[in-house]
Amino acid sequence: MPITTCVFDAYGTLFDVTAAARQAASEPEFSAIKDTWPQLAEHWRLKQLQYSWLRAVTKAHTDFWTVTQEGLDWALEKTGHDGDAELRERLLALYWELQAYAEVPVMLTALKAAGLNTAILSNGSPQMLDGAVQSARIADVLDVSLSVESVGIFKPHASVYDLVGAHFGCAKDEVLFVSSNGWDAGAATGYGFQTAWVNRGGEPMDRLPWKPAHVLQDLSGIPALAGV
Ligand code: LAC
Repeated sequence: MPITTCVFDAYGTLFDVTAAARQAASEPEFSAIKDTWPQLAEHWRLKQLQYSWLRAVTKAHTDFWTVTQEGLDWALEKTGHDGDAELRERLLALYWELQAYAEVPVMLTALKAAGLNTAILSNGSPQMLDGAVQSARIADVLDVSLSVESVGIFKPHASVYDLVGAHFGCAKDEVLFVSSNGWDAGAATGYGFQTAWVNRGGEPMDRLPWKPAHVLQDLSGIPALAGV
C-alpha cells in the first residue's frame, strides 16, 4: 500500500531528550553536572521508560509528566545530585522546550507539501506535546498530536497504535511509523504499520519478536521512504 500517513514518536525521535541535561550543564549555575550530564540524561531516560512499561503491565497508569519526574528523581539520586532542588527545577523546565532535531522542519514540510497526513503519536501528555510542538515551531506541518492519555496506557500497548486509524481512518499498512526507540518501531511492526527506526547512536537491534522494516541514521530519509 502507498503511504498516506506518517506518524512520529516524539521524545528522542522529533525532540532531543538529551538537550535538557546538555543545556543545563552549559549554564554556570549548574556546573556540577558539566562532566556527568550524559550519564544523568541516560539514567533519566531509561528510568522514565522503565516506569512507563511497569505502569502499563501493572495497570497503574499515570501521566508521562509524572514518570518523567520520577525518572529524574531516581537519576539525580544515582548521580549524587538528589539534594539539588534548583537543578531539578531547571531540568524539568527545559523538558518543556526540548530542541527538535535540525532536519525536522524541512522533513515535515516535504511530507505536508506532498499531501501526506502527519502526526505525533506519543506517551507525552497533551500539554507536554503542545509545549514541545510550539517551542519547535512545527505546529503548522503537523495535523495532530495523538497522546496515550486518551487511552490511559503507555506504548507499546496496541490501543495506542489504534489511535492512528481511529483519527485518520486509514489502513495500518498505509502508515509509516517512525521512532528512535527500537522497541517502539519493533512493536509497531508487530501491530501492522510500515516502520522506520531512527538509530542515531548506532545502537544494537532490540531482541524482540518484531523488527523495524527500515533503519535510518536520522530523519532526512523519511520523505523518500514515504514515496515523496
Ligand atoms: C514517546 C516516547 C516513547 O514520545 O519517546 O512516546
